Amino acid sequence: MTSYPIVSALLLAVPALFIYHRVTAQRTSATPSPTTEKPEEKPKSIMQPAATDLAPPKDDPFTQEQLKEFDGSDVSKPIYVAIKGTVFDVTRKRDTYGKGGSYNLFAGKDASKALGKSSLKEEDASPDYSDLPNTERKVLDDWHAFFVKRYNIVGKVTDLPAVVANL
Ligand code: HEM
Repeated sequence: MTSYPIVSALLLAVPALFIYHRVTAQRTSATPSPTTEKPEEKPKSIMQPAATDLAPPKDDPFTQEQLKEFDGSDVSKPIYVAIKGTVFDVTRKRDTYGKGGSYNLFAGKDASKALGKSSLKEEDASPDYSDLPNTERKVLDDWHAFFVKRYNIVGKVTDLPAVVANL
């Protein structure tokens, strides 16, 4: 029937998006040589472009408990995502990080481990990424760099687990 082409297209689109997303997110880790960093090699991305209107970074202290207030459940408050202790204001992507959003898992906390592992599991949403192998630490660093270019930095997490505080 006529619905088959639509179903087939959908079945193909989801994995294709995922692969493209992963390739884009890990672009720098796939090409470790500094000599390969040429602008013309950048593939077109489904990800949002870097922001041009970022404010100077702030250094306000946040405990993990205080961060929870900014998990998107209260629409009158901003949404914060922390990566390796850096707190980013992702409020302008409330659809993505707010309640019911695909990446709400990352909101109101430091979920560095999940970003490094490319995981959306609640159990991986932890600031302790110390058991990740170097390949996944590089993915995490790439995500940190991605956020630095796109979101305002509003502070630092002050009570990270000791095992990562000095990494
Ligand atoms: C089937 C699996 C997946 C698909 C189809 C997918 C698709 C996408 C798409 C389309 C975007 C761009 C969204 C936008 O700009 O609004 C995106 C961004 C993103 N994805 Fe995924 N993704 C998948 C899996 C994952 C996983 C496993 C992670 C875990 C780390 C992840 C983390 C992210 C993050 C952090 C962003 C950046 C959002 C932003 O712009 O702030 N994704 N993904």
